[in-house]
Amino acid sequence: MDWAAGAVTADLCLVLKGNKRHDPIHVLSVLQRLFRSLSYVERIQLIRAKVPILRFREKGSDLEFDLNVNNTVGIRNTFLLRSYAYADLRIRPMILVVKKWARHNQINDASKGTLSSYTLVLMVLHYLQTLNEPVLPSLQRDYPECFNPLMDIDAVPDGPKHIPPYISRNQSSLGELLLGFLKYYATYFRWDEQVISVREARALPKSNSHEWSKYICVEEPFERNNVARAVHEKIKFDIIKAQFVESWRILQQRKDLNSIPPGQSHQ
Ligand SMILES: *[C@@H]1O[C@H](CO)[C@@H](O)[C@H](O)[C@H]1NC(C)=O
Ligand SMILES: *[C@@H]1O[C@H](CO)[C@@H](O)[C@H](O)[C@H]1NC(C)=O
Repeated sequence: MDWAAGAVTADLCLVLKGNKRHDPIHVLSVLQRLFRSLSYVERIQLIRAKVPILRFREKGSDLEFDLNVNNTVGIRNTFLLRSYAYADLRIRPMILVVKKWARHNQINDASKGTLSSYTLVLMVLHYLQTLNEPVLPSLQRDYPECFNPLMDIDAVPDGPKHIPPYISRNQSSLGELLLGFLKYYATYFRWDEQVISVREARALPKSNSHEWSKYICVEEPFERNNVARAVHEKIKFDIIKAQFVESWRILQQRKDLNSIPPGQSHQ
């Protein structure tokens, strides 16, 4: 596997106070014009996605910024994920390895119909929550006052400050957890019947609602919509599933991440 790091993206959220509703595209295009006059900003791009963003770089650096307007759920879920990351020492390396694995196999790009990094992280947390002897609890269930979706956005960073580390009785190594993760999605998880819910620390049955009509259903922990909606083509879904099966098979035999060949380019 290629372990070289790519460009780093920082998400920024412009929170506009007051009761006036502004069109985010309008706000971002005003900023776009302003940014064009700044000598240290380059590659400014307005991206009209479901949540519109202004993407730009600091001149000469590898650091890329994605600025949205008022998409404050991104702030809430950042602090939730951060709390999970600190709940157990194995979480951060586990997530790094899974992201590398997915990128290596070209299944980590929502703009190409595969998995966003956020979806991958929630899939990892879900797996760790659902072991008989879980490695993680549901932090939203155990500490509802820290993750109240209606909490004032300025209070969000302080919310989880006093959450103690979770003491898991499952002492599996990182390697065992990675193998278990691949196996769970290769053999156990029912994609057509289940919704991943990190909020509830379990798989929920799919209802008939439009939200859960996609191939992969992963609940956003605050807004409860589907974060995996980018996977809308059967062929991409099949490639993702096959990758879990194939990687699990190889890793189980060889116990060596380097034995996983790079994925085919399927853009
Ligand atoms: C942004 O959200 C705040 C409260 O969350 C609201 O008062 C304000 O009107 C919103 N601004 C825009 C641009 O929608
Ligand atoms: C602990 O985690 C491993 C995955 O690494 C899993 O296979 C095992 O079942 C877990 N133990 C229990 C008791 O759930």
